[in-house]
Amino acid sequence: MRQQVTKRPFRAILLAAVLSMAGFQAGAEDDQRTAVTLPGDVAADFLAEMRTHLANLDDMVAALAADDFKAAARVAEMHMTFGHRRWKRMAESGASDQEIAAAKQRFKQMRESGSARPGRGMGMGMGRGFGRFMPDDFRAMGAAFHEAAESFATAAKAASSPPSPKDYKAVLDALGTVTAACRGCHDAFRIEVAK
Ligand code: HEC
Repeated sequence: MRQQVTKRPFRAILLAAVLSMAGFQAGAEDDQRTAVTLPGDVAADFLAEMRTHLANLDDMVAALAADDFKAAARVAEMHMTFGHRRWKRMAESGASDQEIAAAKQRFKQMRESGSARPGRGMGMGMGRGFGRFMPDDFRAMGAAFHEAAESFATAAKAASSPPSPKDYKAVLDALGTVTAACRGCHDAFRIEVAK
């Protein structure tokens, strides 16, 4: 009797270990994500950009925790919205916030009027970017991500100073839409390096 009692926990642990190993293997085999095949250097650039996204997200959360909603909006605008590479380049070459805002406004109008065809931005398939390697669904998820970042920036800029509980809620909701876009794409796609 006594022996059985002491044996059981060990068995349970062994079983759990065996199951989790089996589970791990099954997980790798039944990976439902769509593989996107990229040349090695493109894959490296893509993953580096992904790590930057995580760093930017971290900066946004830190800015919100410091009640600096404007700073959080700025990170999203410069690094996550449509055309983010262009805004960053402008900032690096000394353009003012107003100049960048004006360029963003023009770009937005072009997009909305349809004169900026899908295919112009890096994520949308422009020449040297990784967009041209991506399937349409992937690009659509990328677009949803940029859209969510845009909405986050709008919500964060609209917050009063100091932010009210309502502002916090609106901004957290918008941040949740951004992270849901990260998660949605990660659930759907994986990268494979071309041989
Ligand atoms: C449109 C698709 C898409 C969006 C949006 C997206 N990712 Fe990714 N991300 C991927 C894919 C695909 C991978 C590679 C996953 C794999 O191969 O297992 C990846 C990988 C990563 C990695 C791992 C990088 C490495 O070096 O291995 C990080 C970190 C990451 N993403 C962060 C983010 C964050 C944070 C966001 C949102 C702010 C985000 N991603 C949004 C598609 C996306």
